[in-house]
Amino acid sequence: TKTLKVALLGAGNVGAQVARILLEDADALAARTGARLELVGIAVRNVHAPRDVELPRELFTTDASALVRRADVVIELMGGLEPARTLILEAIEHGATVVTGNKALLAVDGPSLYEKADAARVQLSYEAAVAGAIPILRPIRDSLAGDKITRVMGIVNGTTNFILDQMDTTGASFADALAEATRLGYAEADPTADIEGHDAAAKGAILASLSFHTRFALEDVDCQGITAVTAGDIAAAKDAGFVIKLLAIAEKLTVPAAEGADDAGGTTTGVSVRVHPTLLPREHPLAAVHGAFNAVFIEAESAGELMFYGQGAGGTPTASAVLGDVVSAARRLVLGGPGRTETTTGVLPVLGIDAVTTKY
Ligand code: HSE
Repeated sequence: TKTLKVALLGAGNVGAQVARILLEDADALAARTGARLELVGIAVRNVHAPRDVELPRELFTTDASALVRRADVVIELMGGLEPARTLILEAIEHGATVVTGNKALLAVDGPSLYEKADAARVQLSYEAAVAGAIPILRPIRDSLAGDKITRVMGIVNGTTNFILDQMDTTGASFADALAEATRLGYAEADPTADIEGHDAAAKGAILASLSFHTRFALEDVDCQGITAVTAGDIAAAKDAGFVIKLLAIAEKLTVPAAEGADDAGGTTTGVSVRVHPTLLPREHPLAAVHGAFNAVFIEAESAGELMFYGQGAGGTPTASAVLGDVVSAARRLVLGGPGRTETTTGVLPVLGIDAVTTKY
């Protein structure tokens, strides 16, 4: 069996879970990809920092650059702009496949990183950057590639959905709901990026780019957070049959052509990408997304309406999305194609249905 050397950059919440699964499930992953995914090192800032997951000490290094140069697959989960950007560029230059969950970096530098990866014929995938565990980017990029998406609406920030949901269901004030989100560990120590909508806007830029085959960055997204939403607003919305959700929306719009343009007086088609508190009818599928869950609702010309739902944050759920990208990249490296279908032996079919006791 071929061996692929995997470098992990970052061992935070998500990184530590990715390392654990790579080590624990090595045999199953080898069976699925046709290659052993050998974790050759984990780059961290502090080798001795305490971690939730017990990982082999000898894998830790502070020399991320040297680690990148040894790898076939580089998983970047450090977050933040630097040194993540430089290390991803080094990986691309070196010809390594890159998997990242870094929505903040992609929102700012995505367009140039995608171009560099394309030019170097290197695969760059980032399923974990949007809506955690929910498989959403590959369905948009691959499964819907033959369709025309007309609108994407996403609840892509768990913290703000939790806050708005608490306000809606318990009548709590914004401040009390935020305090509860912090207590439960949903909100960051500094929740600014969550409540001001910047985190959702970063994800919105990525969703819009893939849905409309163009390249949007954070600066192309109109953004308004939820800090001004009051208990009174929520109550009034409720009375009128609506719920307030923070949505990232990307939609095709036909607008009057600008004065002085070639087609002035006519219309022109563009894509509006925005994040703002939105009044949703309570019967809309997105209105049923409670707590810190995420969901993305897609409207496409042929497929019609689709909805994707799941956990948008957390170490293990987000690690699932990272590992999916790693397996898919490994299959391509092994076979130069989408890869093999694993057949499992030793799992018996269970026959017989008990319609009365089978309850979901
Ligand atoms: N702070 C983010 C959220 C984490 O609340 O959804 C996932 O990006």
